[in-house]
Amino acid sequence: MPSVLVTRRLPSSVLSRLQSVADVDVHRGEGPIAPDELRRRIADTAGLVCFSTDAIDRAVLEAAPQLRVIANVAVGYDNIDVAQARSRGVIVSNTPDVLTESVADFTWGLILAITRRLAEGERLVRRGEWKGWAFDLMLGSELRGKQLGLIGFGRIGRAVASRAPAFGMRVAFTARGDVAAETGDFPGESMSLDRLLITSDVISLHVPLTPDTRHLIDKRALARMKRSAFLINTARGSVIDEAALAWALQQHLIAGAALDVYENEPAVHADLLPLENVLLVPHLASGTTETRSTMAELAIDNVIEVLAGRAPLTPVL
Ligand code: DGY
Repeated sequence: MPSVLVTRRLPSSVLSRLQSVADVDVHRGEGPIAPDELRRRIADTAGLVCFSTDAIDRAVLEAAPQLRVIANVAVGYDNIDVAQARSRGVIVSNTPDVLTESVADFTWGLILAITRRLAEGERLVRRGEWKGWAFDLMLGSELRGKQLGLIGFGRIGRAVASRAPAFGMRVAFTARGDVAAETGDFPGESMSLDRLLITSDVISLHVPLTPDTRHLIDKRALARMKRSAFLINTARGSVIDEAALAWALQQHLIAGAALDVYENEPAVHADLLPLENVLLVPHLASGTTETRSTMAELAIDNVIEVLAGRAPLTPVL
């Protein structure tokens, strides 16, 4: 049987399907597999099931001459050198669609939490500093009648947009040309990044991390936003220049930010930590029991298909 390396523990029900067609080696440690251990354990494997915390770079690919498929248990695949994999004939797959709804729900959770100051209020209560109901205690911002600006309008951006009418928000979006063409009559106004930054009340990021989107939200972009606006990131940390964001929040150039992802996870920029106007959560957007097991199932199916000589279900194209 071909061998497959899985870099994190997965539910046994998911693993057993893989074990029926391959010799499976699972990294059972708490954190990500160390790079040198990954290179050692991948030497004879035909399949790799990995996660956004694993850097699958040229050195890893060079250490894996038998490798035929890399199944990333994530929709994003900026952790993989896809061009290198392709040049070696290694197929790369990801897990699109199956996490769209849970990430969209979570995005709205962040929008509501930061605009209504939920985490700040919770901290006050836990510190024992709440003095009782007050007319003007921790007043938040309404969403109704305001503009939600979506940077990126793929599957997740659109799922976030589809929930906006429930909160009385109008939608603006920026999208790559091909995506914009597909959006057809979807309710929402397509606009330039600059106009979206200047006119939106809540801005949410839904772009992949690429050389073009790294630090897309920098000092200049933050300075264009309304002072009353909020920034939400469930995409990838490096789409925002974290130091610039900390500066903008300190200066109250924007009203607040809610972050699920960071430039150097699990580290968070030290200047963000003391700020009350930023909500910080640990990369949880797709983290429901249902979605995570469906993601794992899909990744395993991709490996099974490729090892059987068939096309993967969700290749990275
Ligand atoms: C994804 O699917 O890309 C999530 O961020 C999990 O890594």
